[in-house]
Amino acid sequence: MNPRATPLDWSRAAGADEVRAALADLRAGDLPTHGGRTLSYVYDSGMAAVDEIGREALTAFAASNGLDPTAFPSLASMETDLVGLARDLLDGPASTVGVATSGGTESLVLAVLAARDGNPQITRPQVVAPETVHAAVHKAGHLLGVEVVTVPVDPHTFRPDPDDMAAAVTDSTVLLLASAPSYAHGVIDPVEEIAAVAAARGIRCHVDACIGGWVLPFLEGLPPWTFAVEGVTSISVDLHKYAYTPKGISLLLHRDPALRRGHFFACADWPGYTVLNTTLQSTKSGGPLAAAWAVVHAIGRDGYGELARSVRDATLQVAAVVDEIDGLRVVVAPDSTLLALATDERCDVFTIADEMGSRGWLVQPQMSFAGHPATLHLSLCAATATRVEELVSALTQASAEAVRRGPVRVDPQLAAAAEALDPAGLDDAALDGLLAIAGLVGDGGGVEVPERMAEVNALLDIAPPPLREALLTAVLDRLTRTRP
Ligand SMILES: Cc1ncc(COP(=O)(O)O)c(C=O)c1O
Repeated sequence: MNPRATPLDWSRAAGADEVRAALADLRAGDLPTHGGRTLSYVYDSGMAAVDEIGREALTAFAASNGLDPTAFPSLASMETDLVGLARDLLDGPASTVGVATSGGTESLVLAVLAARDGNPQITRPQVVAPETVHAAVHKAGHLLGVEVVTVPVDPHTFRPDPDDMAAAVTDSTVLLLASAPSYAHGVIDPVEEIAAVAAARGIRCHVDACIGGWVLPFLEGLPPWTFAVEGVTSISVDLHKYAYTPKGISLLLHRDPALRRGHFFACADWPGYTVLNTTLQSTKSGGPLAAAWAVVHAIGRDGYGELARSVRDATLQVAAVVDEIDGLRVVVAPDSTLLALATDERCDVFTIADEMGSRGWLVQPQMSFAGHPATLHLSLCAATATRVEELVSALTQASAEAVRRGPVRVDPQLAAAAEALDPAGLDDAALDGLLAIAGLVGDGGGVEVPERMAEVNALLDIAPPPLREALLTAVLDRLTRTRP
């Protein structure tokens, strides 16, 4: 899973078949995007005909430019249609407006931007969010100069106490956030209570339904979290997750147009065309939008209902079996189609992740954080729902093997050194040394990600988050350097 040199020589034009073969060769090193065994990153409806229509639309509109809706009115039509469908799904009032963005991160950045710029009188804006909020909110804060104030969650329910959210609000708070559900633990925050806190103070409330927004509306018996909750002012929902569309599209909906205005941008202050943007991108391919429009209509509302219920049933089945597996447990009852699994002291999640990998399943390790245990993340999708027996059998075998091997023990001296390191003071040479200690340097002397990651992950797990960030950024930097 390390980047490889591409096989083509640019000093001559390659033939189409040669390019195809090279692409196929490159892709062979990637995770499978279909088949239901990749339990994060990808979402597979298992509907080949739907995938095909999506790909056709992606290709047909790849060169269309969403920069100007008057030049490409087809894109504006498809965008407003999708926003309208989402409005109905999410109980939005007639005044609801929205935009299509490139993904969940962009939707969240825009939600924070709109809240910041909607409150120009606040000079040092803050947002208040449960500590489980997606990291994209931290990115938004970082990019926009907005402080992200996090509130701890209960160690059993993984939800914040709304009173703690209220206590964190100050005169500088421009936005409260809640997840439906949270990525890491798959639970819905108490949206009604959080939105009430926001409404009482005249503050906006955003619900991050990036991962759940196209599933939860089709399930019964959940606490309210949509625009039906009065204080909710905006919601993000990614189509490239559970709407099973090709990558590159999310929707951000606002309860009314005034709430959206803050993330519009206009610039006539230069000699070229007047730049008018609703989102961060200027030129943007019409491909992902057209593909999403095609797929959403090809599956249809009832189709999504069936898919959502089948994945939900599968999630509950897996959860029930996991609680019987020696060494493994579900950390909190799932509200949607995501599971967080933890181990007892006889093994660790990192070894289970490796064991699952060697059996052809990708489950994502999540590091321990703020007193919460390290977990395995599983996002089930429609294609996984047809393989529940295989999945639980793989989990059973992987856990048994992990118990047999025992948990990875990090050298206590190394652990103490990690605690003492100041990541801000690490230069490139020091980082290279640490990457070598962490087992991330291959025989050729370059950074390589090993097949089995348990040792590396166990080490990262004991590193404080800023050190983890510094080390992983160094890995990314080195993996993405142009070859000499
Ligand atoms: C709840 C939630 N919010 C935001 C995001 C970020 O989405 P993206 O990776 O599309 O930027 C994710 C991604 O998993 C998510 O689960």
